[in-house]
Amino acid sequence: MLIKGETVLQGEVTISSSKNAILPILAACLLTEDEVRIEKVPDINDVIIITEILKELGVVIEHGRNSLTLCSKLVSTQPPYELVRQIRASVLLMGPILARRGQVRIALPGGCAIGTRPIDLHLKGLQALGVDICLQSGDLVAKANRLTGNHVYLDYPSVGATENIMMAAATAQGISYIENAALEPEVVDLANFINQMGGKIYGAGTNVIKIIGVRELHGTEYSPIPDRIEAGTYMTAVAATGGAALIKNVLPDHLKAITAKLIESGADVIEGKNSLQVSRTGKIKPVYIKTLPYPGFPTDMQAQFMAYLSCGQGSSIISESVFENRYMHVQELSRMGADIQTEGKTAIIKGVKNLSGAQVKAPDLRAGAALVIAGLTAQGDTTLLESEHVKRGYENIAEKFIAMGACIENI
Ligand code: UD1
Repeated sequence: MLIKGETVLQGEVTISSSKNAILPILAACLLTEDEVRIEKVPDINDVIIITEILKELGVVIEHGRNSLTLCSKLVSTQPPYELVRQIRASVLLMGPILARRGQVRIALPGGCAIGTRPIDLHLKGLQALGVDICLQSGDLVAKANRLTGNHVYLDYPSVGATENIMMAAATAQGISYIENAALEPEVVDLANFINQMGGKIYGAGTNVIKIIGVRELHGTEYSPIPDRIEAGTYMTAVAATGGAALIKNVLPDHLKAITAKLIESGADVIEGKNSLQVSRTGKIKPVYIKTLPYPGFPTDMQAQFMAYLSCGQGSSIISESVFENRYMHVQELSRMGADIQTEGKTAIIKGVKNLSGAQVKAPDLRAGAALVIAGLTAQGDTTLLESEHVKRGYENIAEKFIAMGACIENI
């Protein structure tokens, strides 16, 4: 991807459906044999991969213009390794496959660019519901005669573990409680989806979720929530370039932490009902950011904010408390002239006058988005290598920025 620098973003951008909502929702389609139709499906690589996995399991999928219609026959309980290893969210298939068939065999997800990312909490939760799990030749082999409701306390409010356990418990016998559950809007969206299929999930969005197991779930139609991280990325890009633009199709309540930090750093954000007007005319002021589970500042916005603050006044501090190793973008931003020092979980960003275009590499999805923002503000051109990481989670990112005045070429 070739990005021309010194761009001032203007106009408007429409946000797509949430990647992190649609992935568990597509996994949850396995919970019923009936037809399920998902609308407003974003055209991103992670969705393509998970639908490929579902097809391998026997799910019949019809592709509409922006929709998917799924009929989950489920002829296999073994998602293929070649696809599973490409997408970490495939661990979310465990809960629904166990719920439907009482067994699953899936490759243990490896480490990834942002740390080891263990799945112990997923497994502990499933075990509490009566699942026996063992490791065979690098695969997790899980079996349960009958999933049974129970109390599951999560040592950490893991998004994925909350979702996996919620899906497994939806049709279990009896009542389950997830204590210290994740509060993320995507968890709430998944609960709403399952409830629309006839599930009985209460309290999603609070730290105790009660799930009354039902005998079976039925088909439905559903549109996932807008992507708050995509929205945050465009908001930050507009502020970084000193532009002014309308961010459409957002739920401003989901963006409070991002909005607060943008305002603190000198940008203006005006909330509409389903939109946000973002602009910046003054200097970028230094801020302190600590990433936290929702409603705290999202770790998925840390890299983009670092790119933004790189040209601020004074020194900003970022503390990454969610993932252990999520500063892969620092080296690349430094190649563009940013002055960033990291020590453990802390990064100190000393603002420089400007960044300079360079050849950089996207180490992962959000880090790649951060480098696009850096490239838009820098002097000169930036070549972003391995930009396919960005396409995992951003629908038409080049086209959306071009419509706002950027000059980006997919090469
Ligand atoms: C989800 C999001 C991801 C986001 C993250 C945190 C999806 C598809 N992905 O990932 O974009 O960055 O939430 O908001 O929704 N942990 C354990 N044991 C576990 C599970 C997690 O120790 O069993 C740790 C992780 O290593 C990490 C922290 O808990 O340090 C948060 O992870 P988690 O909330 O589970 O993130 P994901 O669901 O993987």
